[in-house]
Amino acid sequence: MADDKLNDDAQPFTRRYFLEALGGGAIGIAATGGVILTARFLSPNVLREPPSKFRAGNVEDFPTGSVTLNKEQKVFLVRANEGYFYAVSAVCTHLGCIANWKSEEGVIACPCHGSKFNKEGKLLEGPAPRSLPRFSITLDDRSQLHVDKGVVVGEEVILKV
Ligand code: FES
Repeated sequence: MADDKLNDDAQPFTRRYFLEALGGGAIGIAATGGVILTARFLSPNVLREPPSKFRAGNVEDFPTGSVTLNKEQKVFLVRANEGYFYAVSAVCTHLGCIANWKSEEGVIACPCHGSKFNKEGKLLEGPAPRSLPRFSITLDDRSQLHVDKGVVVGEEVILKV
């Protein structure tokens, strides 16, 4: 008897109720999608590039005669045997693969098609059409090295420390 009373108060789950709920859900999804698409259409289509300047590390982090690849920035930090620094791009001038330092051969070698560069970035072997560019490198008053990939410098530019 108590069960009958409960069923009288409860909303019956009818076919009409089901179709109304289904229709309401579909309209809600369509409206949400429309708002998202409109927002994406109205927002600027900008390609955000990382900043060209980065902190490369402390002078003490680089022993003399070392070639260190900063993978994130795709730049080699080279400290010559004489102690000075320069920064060489690790992006191959052929098709843009990231080159590696081969210490046993003493060359920067591209794994994609075999181009080779010396540690100054000079082209030794193609198919790369030109040498690796060098970037501006500076030292702040806390012995931190800073590289600016937006400023290409000549091979005569070195940072004496
Ligand atoms: S991308 Fe480096 S040799 Fe082709």
